[in-house]
Amino acid sequence: MRHNTSIDSFYNREYIHKPIMWREIIEYMERSVFKGDGVVVDCTLGEGGHSEIFLNYFKNIRVIGFERDPQILERAEARLSVFGDRFKSINDNFSSMGDRLSGETVNYILYDFGISSFHFDASGRGFSFAGNEKLDMSLDGTGLTAWDVVNKYSEGELRRIFREYGEEKWFPKIAKVIVEKRTESPIETTEELAEIVLRAIPKKFHVKNIHPATRIFQALRIEVNGELEAIKDGLLSGFNVLGENGIMMAMSFHSLEDRIAKRFFKRMSDGCLCGNDGKHCFCSGKPYGEILTRKPLMALEDEVAWNSRSRSAKLRVLRKTRDLDGEYR
Ligand SMILES: C[S@@+](CC[C@H](N)C(=O)[O-])C[C@H]1O[C@@H](n2cnc3c(N)ncnc32)[C@H](O)[C@@H]1O
Repeated sequence: MRHNTSIDSFYNREYIHKPIMWREIIEYMERSVFKGDGVVVDCTLGEGGHSEIFLNYFKNIRVIGFERDPQILERAEARLSVFGDRFKSINDNFSSMGDRLSGETVNYILYDFGISSFHFDASGRGFSFAGNEKLDMSLDGTGLTAWDVVNKYSEGELRRIFREYGEEKWFPKIAKVIVEKRTESPIETTEELAEIVLRAIPKKFHVKNIHPATRIFQALRIEVNGELEAIKDGLLSGFNVLGENGIMMAMSFHSLEDRIAKRFFKRMSDGCLCGNDGKHCFCSGKPYGEILTRKPLMALEDEVAWNSRSRSAKLRVLRKTRDLDGEYR
C-alpha cells in the first residue's frame, strides 16, 4: 500500500524539518476502521510537520502533541494555533502519556523517534559537528549535558556508551583519547570533540561521506536524554492509552530504536506474554495486537531524493486488538 500524492504537496517552507513518510502514515490512518476521524497522539511533535498534515488532511481529527523540548514546542504551537481546539500540546516526555491522557479515547499514535532537523541545523545546542557549538544536547534542559558526559564520565563509562549507544567499534581508543585530552583542559565544543574523534580513528578506516564522529554524537545524545528508556516506556504507555482497533505507528532512524519497536510489536502480536507457551502458559495466550507491516516500510525513492534524512527511516505499524489487562511485565 502506498499513497500516490506528490511528496512536497503539504510542505511548509517556513519550517526546517521535512515530515518523513507522511503519505504512508495517512494511508494507514485512512485504512483503519476510524478512517482518519478521531484523536491522534503525535508523541514527537517537533516543529509540528506531521500534525499540520493530519489537521489539514483529515477534517474531523484532533491532535494531542507531546514534546520534551520547550524551544521547538513554541514553534509548533505558533504553527498549529490556527487549528484552535483541534490541537493541544503537552510539554512532557511521551513516556508520561498514561498520566497525562487519562479519559481520552485515542485512535492513532505516532512516534517519530530521535531529534528534528531543527535540532541539528538551528538549535545551537551542539547536536551536530557541522558547526562549532557548546556541548549541550539536552532536549529539556533538566540536568545532564553532553559536556558533563564528555568531561566527567570515567573512561569505562565512556567506553560503554560509545559501544552500546553508538555501536562504534573504535570505542576503546576514542574513550582513551578523550580522557587524555581532558586532563589538559576540558573539552568545550562540538568542533573540538569532532576533531578528537577524527584523529583517534586511523584514516584508512574512515568511511566515505560519513564523519567519523557521527556515532559518538549519537551515543552522547542518547545518553544525555535517556532516549532508549523513554522509547521502551513510551511504547507501553502508548499501547495502554490506545483504544481497541487503534493504530500505533513507530518510525525509527537507527537499529537501536528499531530493535525496541520491533520487539515490542512482536510481543504484542505473539499469543503468549508469560513466556510459557503451550500447556504451561499462565496468561490468556491471546494476542494483543496485529502487525500491519510484515517488514518495516522504507521511504520511497522520490522522498529520499527530496529529503536525504528519510533514507534511514523504518516505519512499523500495529493495530491494537485488546487491552493488556495488567498481564504485561
Ligand atoms: C524527528 S522529530 C519529530 C518531527 C515531527 N514529526 C515533524 O514532522 O516536525 C522528534 C521530536 O521528538 C522530540 N522528542 C524526542 N524524544 C521525546 C520524548 N521522549 N518525549 C517527547 N518528545 C520527544 C524531539 O525533541 C523532537 O522534537
